[in-house]
Amino acid sequence: MSFRAFQVEKMESGFVRSVIEREEDDLPAGELLIDVHYSSLNYKDALSATGNPGVTRAFPHTPGIDAAGVVLASDDSEFAVGDEVIVIGFDLGMGTSGGFGKRIRVPAGWAVKMPQGMDARASMRIGTAGFTAAECVQKLELGGMTPASGPVLVTGATGGVGSVAVKLLAQLGYEVVAVTGKSDKHDFLRALGAAEFMTREQASEGAEKPLLAERWGGVVDTVGGDILFNAVKSLRYGCSAAACGLVAAPNFAASVLPFILRHVNLLGIDSVQLPITEKSAIWSRLATDWRMDLSDLEEILTLDSLSAAIDRILAGQMVGRGVVDLNVDS
Ligand SMILES: NC(=O)c1ccc[n+]([C@@H]2O[C@H](COP(=O)([O-])OP(=O)(O)OC[C@H]3O[C@@H](n4cnc5c(N)ncnc54)[C@H](OP(=O)(O)O)[C@@H]3O)[C@@H](O)[C@H]2O)c1
Repeated sequence: MSFRAFQVEKMESGFVRSVIEREEDDLPAGELLIDVHYSSLNYKDALSATGNPGVTRAFPHTPGIDAAGVVLASDDSEFAVGDEVIVIGFDLGMGTSGGFGKRIRVPAGWAVKMPQGMDARASMRIGTAGFTAAECVQKLELGGMTPASGPVLVTGATGGVGSVAVKLLAQLGYEVVAVTGKSDKHDFLRALGAAEFMTREQASEGAEKPLLAERWGGVVDTVGGDILFNAVKSLRYGCSAAACGLVAAPNFAASVLPFILRHVNLLGIDSVQLPITEKSAIWSRLATDWRMDLSDLEEILTLDSLSAAIDRILAGQMVGRGVVDLNVDS
């Protein structure tokens, strides 16, 4: 059977994107065949679509690291035909044909059953980006962060991870300071719950200094580079920064001083290989005590509008969460 999919092909002229008909038989092996209802656009999808070899090596390829839909066929006793499921991370959309196609076939160990109270569209408003924001907040709280720890800095605040982090932290009672390069988006961020704003330039000031004034009770960093280490240098005694992204830079100049003088922590966040039981627990939380109304963050995309959105996310211009509706034919 054929299905519609966004495809990236490697040509002499470069990586070319199109929407095509693909055959189910061409999907990789796996216990679950899933009818994808919604996917979402993440920064990593844009890297895949532009041939970044750290994400995708084999082309032609259908990106999409997120998918939510219904099981059409199952060779695994844990899942029945008709089950609603979420698949994020692992190899989906990287080496394995991803959620920018109406069908995926994946190992059962990659799928989480849709938690009660959540549906496919709501789960893809969250997607990998929002899930990662929740993972950051969870790890920071496990490390002792509470609203009394002090203001929490969120970098890349209008992006997918950043915007959900602002919303979740504000909902949990934190004072959120948002770093954004988009001065025209302060109202958007204020509506999500941001109390104060910094420009990227302000957040980069003092990169040459070994320590900066103690300010943050926690940090959710999506950008890396000097902004990340400046944030570490501004943590209050004993507090932590969660690092999950690299849109500014993957490397930064660092010293041990904040760690040995201020007892602070730099926490690593990965949503891709996180064990499925831990993924499932975070999804359950996102459907219950961490449930958020993210409708204000949503931009509905289709397979046909994806290519332009990929260019916007690469240019750092995407705001909020791009949700890909695969229920429409064209
Ligand atoms: N570790 C994991 O498992 C995991 C999971 C998901 C995402 N990530 C990573 O997290 C990062 C963010 O992902 P995303 O989906 O939120 O991407 P996104 O939607 O593109 O958001 C990134 C935001 O960063 C800001 N930004 C862009 N270029 C910048 C620059 N040169 N310097 C400083 N800030 C810049 C922009 O926000 P403002 O205009 O508001 O500043 C942009 O909206 C990516 O690196 C992604 O790969 C990692």
